[in-house]
Amino acid sequence: MDKHIFFTGFMASGKTRVGRRIAERLQREFIDTDVLIAEKAGKSISDIFEQDGEATFRKMELELIQNLVKSTSPKVISLGGGALSQEVIVKHIRNSGVLVRLWAKPEILSERIARKNTRPLMAGLNNEERLQKIKKMLEEREVFYSKADFSVESSNDYPEEHVCERVLHLLQFWKDHSIDVSTSSGERYPIFIGKQMFHKIGHLLEGLGLTPSHQFLICTDTGVAKAQANSLTTLRNQTAQAPVFKFRAGETSKNLTSLNQLYTFMLRRNFSRKTCLLQFGGGVVGDMAGFGAATYQRGIPFIQFPTTLLSMVDSSVGGKVAVNHSEGKNMIGAFYQPKAVVCDLEVLKTLPHQEFLAGLAEIIKYGVIYDSDFFKYIENNADSILKKEESTLKYLIEQSCKIKAEVVGIDEKETGLRAILNYGHTFGHAIEKLTNYQTFSHGIAVSLGMRVAARVSTLLNLWSKEEEERQSKLLNFFGFPSHFDVSIKEAWKAMGVDKKVEKNNRNYILPTKIGCVKKHANVEETIIQKAWEAIQAKEVL
Ligand SMILES: NC(=O)c1ccc[n+]([C@@H]2O[C@H](COP(=O)([O-])OP(=O)(O)OC[C@H]3O[C@@H](n4cnc5c(N)ncnc54)[C@H](O)[C@@H]3O)[C@@H](O)[C@H]2O)c1
Repeated sequence: MDKHIFFTGFMASGKTRVGRRIAERLQREFIDTDVLIAEKAGKSISDIFEQDGEATFRKMELELIQNLVKSTSPKVISLGGGALSQEVIVKHIRNSGVLVRLWAKPEILSERIARKNTRPLMAGLNNEERLQKIKKMLEEREVFYSKADFSVESSNDYPEEHVCERVLHLLQFWKDHSIDVSTSSGERYPIFIGKQMFHKIGHLLEGLGLTPSHQFLICTDTGVAKAQANSLTTLRNQTAQAPVFKFRAGETSKNLTSLNQLYTFMLRRNFSRKTCLLQFGGGVVGDMAGFGAATYQRGIPFIQFPTTLLSMVDSSVGGKVAVNHSEGKNMIGAFYQPKAVVCDLEVLKTLPHQEFLAGLAEIIKYGVIYDSDFFKYIENNADSILKKEESTLKYLIEQSCKIKAEVVGIDEKETGLRAILNYGHTFGHAIEKLTNYQTFSHGIAVSLGMRVAARVSTLLNLWSKEEEERQSKLLNFFGFPSHFDVSIKEAWKAMGVDKKVEKNNRNYILPTKIGCVKKHANVEETIIQKAWEAIQAKEVL
């Protein structure tokens, strides 16, 4: 179903006029909630406030919106000024539509209000008083307006038609491919999944409140800069020729030395706290640039443009950013959320097959840990996945992002549920580290870790041998390796400094059936050893 479109904004920001035009363009019904409420009550809004009280008005407003969102024909709805102060209304809007904020400079609002002179709240004020009151009210209401998915300026410098065009451009992003990720602070950010989105990025950045005056910086790596030179040029063209900082490609450069080079680059160019960092790369660039954004001048906005399958389905969602330390992977890091994630399927065309597999490992992981139907989908569509058919890939990315968004929405800081995402990671990290991050990429190491974890579950009778076989059959079909040359003794030591070790308790995420995993503490070392060596020896149960 098409989404409803809601407009919010200060009085005289153009909600009704622009809303009406958009409704005409999209051939939808236009609704002004204040007008409907007044009609139903048979008196003006100010009379309702005066005679029945604000609580009565808010109740009527909530009832109206509850009914509107149920409607199966999508509408364009202009909201009253205080509608977003009701959290339950915000929830209804988020579940059923896109929330657009129109804004204008206070001076322009003041001039428009003075011209019409129909706003009771501004009655009797001179120019200066009106301007000050507008500024104060805008400040107070910012907390509500900032709930909008995107904002568009309704300036007097260009015609209303131009404002409508901008709104329509941005609606396209939300209509086609948006998933929301919620954060513990009650904020949220969108993930867009689609094709050829880079040439429209200027609109998106502006809608997210980032104009060229913010100054952009693009972070990438040497591999991506070469393979995706055209997309990089497009991104630069859309961001007033933003400077580009390149890390050396590969996990070995994910460290404080590389990060320090980024800080120096930024400081020498006088980048301020308003600079927006656009990361254009895989998980390595994303983690490093994200940590750079989290720490540069105590935090600057950043946006993820993932270029590997793994970074689209995993690393760019959820806000974990980090660099490695010689003592352990991702040991220096933070939780820091991007303003948006933009997955353009086009960039995957240059991705080497091994990197594709790395992402696929994380996708299969989601099936095992959370969603047996998704696992079944992967089994049933394995051929089309191997052929990298676009519609199948899009579905895989969407579903994976939905699962990850759901998990991190419940547990952003990994105090509980989020730990399930580490399935295969404890073993995988040890394999990566002990092969000096050279032999296996992260995703491939995770696939090996999943094989070990699955075998541990079988040995502990947590699931059946048949379930383990389903996982290994799928991994084998796609050509994931099944051998690794790392001694369990070394691995046992390495796993002792994993982040998932709490008060000397070693925690393992182990499957109990396809679609479900549990955290287990302190599995006996001999069981881990047996599972590890059995996988190395390709022993089938
Ligand atoms: N933050 C998280 O929640 C999280 C989750 C999972 C993984 N990670 C991290 O992600 C990293 C792995 O990420 P990755 O697998 O994306 O590896 P990566 O970033 O190293 O990219 C892999 C290689 O592919 C190249 N490449 C990237 N995009 C390309 C494209 N479109 N065309 C051609 N070449 C391209 C890169 O130059 C690089 O050489 C690890 O450091 C891991 O710890 C983080």
